[in-house]
Amino acid sequence: MSTPSLLILAGDGIGPEVMVEVRKIIDWFGAKRDLKINVTEDLVGGAAYDKHGVPLTDETMAHAQEVDAVLLGAVGGPAYDDLDFSVKPERGLLRLRKEMDLFANLRPAQCFDALADFSSLKTEIVSGLDIMIVRELTSGVYFGEPRGIMDDNEGGRVGVNTQRYTTDEIRRVARSAFELAKKRNNRVCSMEKANVMESGILWREEVQWVHDNEYPEVELTHMYADNGGMQLVRAPKQFDVIVTDNLFGDMLSDVAAMLTGSLGMLPSASLGVPMANGRPKAMYEPVHGSAPDITGQAKANPCACILSFAMALRYSYDEGAEADRLESAVEKVLADGVRTADLMQAGDTTPASTSEMGDAVIAALDASL
Ligand code: IPM
Ligand code: MG
Repeated sequence: MSTPSLLILAGDGIGPEVMVEVRKIIDWFGAKRDLKINVTEDLVGGAAYDKHGVPLTDETMAHAQEVDAVLLGAVGGPAYDDLDFSVKPERGLLRLRKEMDLFANLRPAQCFDALADFSSLKTEIVSGLDIMIVRELTSGVYFGEPRGIMDDNEGGRVGVNTQRYTTDEIRRVARSAFELAKKRNNRVCSMEKANVMESGILWREEVQWVHDNEYPEVELTHMYADNGGMQLVRAPKQFDVIVTDNLFGDMLSDVAAMLTGSLGMLPSASLGVPMANGRPKAMYEPVHGSAPDITGQAKANPCACILSFAMALRYSYDEGAEADRLESAVEKVLADGVRTADLMQAGDTTPASTSEMGDAVIAALDASL
């Protein structure tokens, strides 16, 4: 196979800062593990708007379609708040998701032992937590038509968005969830609002259909999404894989993220259908946003982005053992007490800077050889 390729879109805010550390990690794998990756970089979000007047150019979009994987930092920031909706930084991200058809968004919520105290929940409720949220990413109310803000012809206005799901859209993301469950603890919980939404009734029926016809050996349960949110903060360890739609997945994955104590630790993968070379279309991104409040202060935690690259090793480059190596290195660094500002506790004094955290991960990788 030819050298695997990666397009880095560092984006806005802390995106470029954390990406510097990921570049070090990529170079380490090239030098020490003979794992060469052909890396290119481009602009997305506000950074692309500043240069080109759009949050993603057609050229960048075309390039993203050709590479084996995209690694995205973060988009958005207060400087872009007043832009027209059509050119807001977030539109660049949504365009990538939609045009690459990245329908399965994998958001693991894993509680590192060294960080169990950071959760807003009691340690015993979260320690050892390891759940995977599979969020549908290319349809639902984010994209459904009709949409817009219109005159209601009575002197007022009306804002419209449409929740819309087809059989195929539901079945393909359900399959992703069942496949993951088979490699984990064999349980899927599907969440919707079948009690109030027709799209929720269809969701429940189609997920059940995929289960009965293709994955009868996996345990499937259904839950209303509001109850799901409640159960996530009451007893999160009851879950293995959760599969849900775009909007519920957006909210539930933020809830699940905070269970683990720090958004600065959480990666994600967005996967589509296999390309000609057999690899899935893929984009990896940290769950945290652009964090304008700490941008440029060397405070950002690079771990979420580093762990997103680990997911790329696993899902795009077939390097599961190297992904394990990188994840273990991050875990060791935390266990050794290296902490960025987001992971400070009472009594801790000097936080590690972004680059010190990256260097500590490199040192742990060296120690793994
Ligand atoms: C996320 C974010 C995005 C979303 C925004 C930035 C468009 O919240 O990835 O969860 O709503 O999907
Ligand atoms: Mg979100």
